[in-house]
Amino acid sequence: MRLENRVALVTGGGSGIGRATALRLAQEGARVAVADIQADDGHETVRQIEAAGGAGLMIQADLAQVSETERAVQATVEQFGQLNILVNNAAVMVEKPITETTEADWDRITGVNLKGTFFCAKYAILQFQRQGSGGSIINMASVNSFYAEGGIAAYATTKGGIAQLTRALAIDHSAEGIRVNAICPGWIETPMNANFFAQGPHIREQAGRLHAIGRIGQPEEIANAVLYLASDEASFVTGTLLTVDGGFSAGLAPALGVVL
Ligand SMILES: NC(=O)c1ccc[n+]([C@@H]2O[C@H](COP(=O)([O-])OP(=O)(O)OC[C@H]3O[C@@H](n4cnc5c(N)ncnc54)[C@H](O)[C@@H]3O)[C@@H](O)[C@H]2O)c1
Repeated sequence: MRLENRVALVTGGGSGIGRATALRLAQEGARVAVADIQADDGHETVRQIEAAGGAGLMIQADLAQVSETERAVQATVEQFGQLNILVNNAAVMVEKPITETTEADWDRITGVNLKGTFFCAKYAILQFQRQGSGGSIINMASVNSFYAEGGIAAYATTKGGIAQLTRALAIDHSAEGIRVNAICPGWIETPMNANFFAQGPHIREQAGRLHAIGRIGQPEEIANAVLYLASDEASFVTGTLLTVDGGFSAGLAPALGVVL
């Protein structure tokens, strides 16, 4: 097992990519705390971890509040004695052009996606420093960290910020053995995209055509990349933005005029 004796905190672990990641890390021997604002969803992830023989902990938290990010790290350490891996994954989507985006929309999306990610990293790094044996942070960025798509200006802004946060933290904390990387997924089949797919089956097909591989991705395909970055196999990898996008960014697919 690749993560024996490790403890991971997965934010947004109650759904989609976060749940698949929590399960995958637990499968490799990590004890996994799941922090999510949706208690039922988080408990279901922990139930699945335990059903597979692993150890899990649910922490209900609104990670848009700084005090909650600190509490999530503390609760993980109280339960499992240490923290070695933070998967900074929780996020929300606002599907609006800037002309329709309100201050409340902006505060919500930057609160969860940027402030929450930033302060979870802060408290994880403080814990890593107390332990003195390094650590690994994996931030969930997006192809939208680099490539714009229609109608999601605020979301794309937050994902661009996460890319730069990743590089900045890698520079600041490499000497302490703390590695900080990000994953940039293409379109993944999760509840975050439910509104798009609810428009009809043609949307799934069109979204698939944005990717060279010809389909959208599954959460487990991102979880495998998280596992790599979390493990010692990535011991020389920091400050990297690992694209896992089925070829979305390899060519000009987004410029083909596919309208979603
Ligand atoms: N699905 C995609 O196509 C895709 C593509 C690129 C990047 N991503 C990124 O992957 C990550 C996971 O997305 P997903 O598709 O699995 O979405 P999802 O909506 O299925 O899961 C997001 C989780 O975050 C939780 N969350 C939301 N606000 C929170 C808060 N304030 N405090 C704590 N938890 C909160 C939700 O309850 C949910 O469990 C996100 O960072 C997303 O931006 C997703």
